[in-house]
Amino acid sequence: MNYSIIPAAGLATRFLPASKCIPKELFPVLDKPVIQYIVEESVEAGATNVVFVSGNGKEAILDHFDKINPKFSVGKLGNSVREKVEALDDMIEVISVRQKLPLGLGHAVMKGTLAVPEDASFAVMLPDMLIFSDGGSSVMQRMNEIHEKYGCSVVALKEVPAEMRGLYGIAEGTRLSDDTIEIKRLVEKPAEGETSSNLAVIGRYIFTPKIAALLRDVKPGKGGEIQLTDAITALLSEEKVLGFVIDEKTHVFDTGNMEGFALANVFAALRRVPDFSNKIKELI
Ligand code: G1P
Repeated sequence: MNYSIIPAAGLATRFLPASKCIPKELFPVLDKPVIQYIVEESVEAGATNVVFVSGNGKEAILDHFDKINPKFSVGKLGNSVREKVEALDDMIEVISVRQKLPLGLGHAVMKGTLAVPEDASFAVMLPDMLIFSDGGSSVMQRMNEIHEKYGCSVVALKEVPAEMRGLYGIAEGTRLSDDTIEIKRLVEKPAEGETSSNLAVIGRYIFTPKIAALLRDVKPGKGGEIQLTDAITALLSEEKVLGFVIDEKTHVFDTGNMEGFALANVFAALRRVPDFSNKIKELI
């Protein structure tokens, strides 16, 4: 799995005025843009060809992963900063695809597949969902191990309270082991009573090449949008699809809303800023 697709065309109206000129994917969690955490997760799992599906006004995302502009005299920076800047120069092969119209996540991923070789498996990573694993392998690395072992598509899942089901794609399936299920059915943002499962799709996927053709055939679904969930449902009738259920030590933050974004910053600060927890306690 050498490719990942990162859909990043959303306008982030919820974050205006901050998102007026700066793509929300470049908002920092401490000293790193949100999307860099996602790209690093992709690289750790072996996917160094990263396809950004973006649109008007999102060029700064591509610049962030390009060689640094020679106007910056990087040589004069202190070692630790210079290393961080230089690491970005060759972190990934930057591939850019445009999504001209906001027709839905399935449409964005379909556009991304145009830049992936036809016979290659690939990851899809939603940049809003920031995932911190407590040591050990990242979620994407674990998913890739499962993908390589069984040769099928893998979707990351997390248990959510029943009242939150309506915010996510929800998976039903049969348990294969502590952290793996075979997915039997997926429902995009179910209404009450539509499913009894609490396993939510959290924005990390690995797909076999078959999904590309299915994505081209998907008709608009929930909310009038072309849904990735509907393409996976079509895939289920052709191939096995596994769910990787993350454990409670793995923290997921939805940085696409204010609360999740603030919590991600606090979480990162608690890990990296000395004495931060005492300072927070004083504030409260
Ligand atoms: C998308 C997917 C949904 C998934 C969610 C994760 O929804 O359609 O299945 O659970 O991402 O964040 P969105 O949040 O873009 O509406």
